[in-house]
Amino acid sequence: MRILEGIVTTLNEDGTVNVSPMGPRVDGAMERFELLPFQSSTTYRNLKRHGEGVFHVTDDVEMLARAAVDQLEPLPATFPAQAINGEILCDACRWYAFRVLQLDDAESRALFLCKVVDRGRLRDFFGFNRAKHAVIEAAILATRIKLLPSEEIFEAFERLKPIVSKTGAEHEVRAFALLENFVDRSLNRRG
Ligand SMILES: Cc1cc2nc3c(=O)[nH]c(=O)nc-3n(C[C@H](O)[C@H](O)[C@H](O)COP(=O)(O)O)c2cc1C
Repeated sequence: MRILEGIVTTLNEDGTVNVSPMGPRVDGAMERFELLPFQSSTTYRNLKRHGEGVFHVTDDVEMLARAAVDQLEPLPATFPAQAINGEILCDACRWYAFRVLQLDDAESRALFLCKVVDRGRLRDFFGFNRAKHAVIEAAILATRIKLLPSEEIFEAFERLKPIVSKTGAEHEVRAFALLENFVDRSLNRRG
C-alpha cells in the first residue's frame, strides 16, 4: 500500500459539490482503497451521510492548491458519474467512483474502506515535474498551519520556491504564489 495524492469530490447536503485534496492508501489494482479524512472535514461528513464519492488523479496542481485553501471560486467543471450519485472533475487524468464499505471513526482521523465501482481515463498525466511536486508539498503544509510551527512552514516554503521558479510553468508559479499568500496571511495573523 502507498499514498496516492489526489482530489476527492463528494456531495454536500444541498447537492452542491465539495472538492478536497486527499491522499488515500492504495494498491496497484485500485479495486479498494482506504481514505483517511479528519472528522473535522466536509469530506468526512459528506461520506458519513452519503457514502459515495469520486477520487481523481490529476496533474492540475493549481486546482489542488486552490481546493486545499478553500479558494475554488468558480468551482471547476464537473460531469455526473453514472454508477453513483457524484460528480467527476473534467480536468482529471483518471477518476474512480467509489462506495464506502466500512467506516471506523474511533480516531480523529477516520478510516473509510472504499470500493471502486466505476473508473475512467480522461487524458494523459503530464509526468514527473519538480515544480508540481513542490506545489503539492506546499499545499499540504498550507492545510497544516494549525498543527506545525511557523518556522518549519516558512523554511519549507523558502526551500520549495526556487524549485517552482526553475522547473515550473505559469500554472505552478501561480499555484505556489497563492499558497504562499495564504500561509503568510494566516501565520502573520497568528503572530
Ligand atoms: C495533497 C494533499 C493531501 C491531503 N490528504 C488529506 C487526507 O488524507 N486526509 C485529510 O483529512 N486531509 C488531507 N488533506 C488536507 C485537506 O485537503 C484539507 O484539510 C481540506 O481543507 C479538507 O477539505 P474539506 O473540509 O472540504 O473536506 C490533504 C491536503 C493535500 C494538499
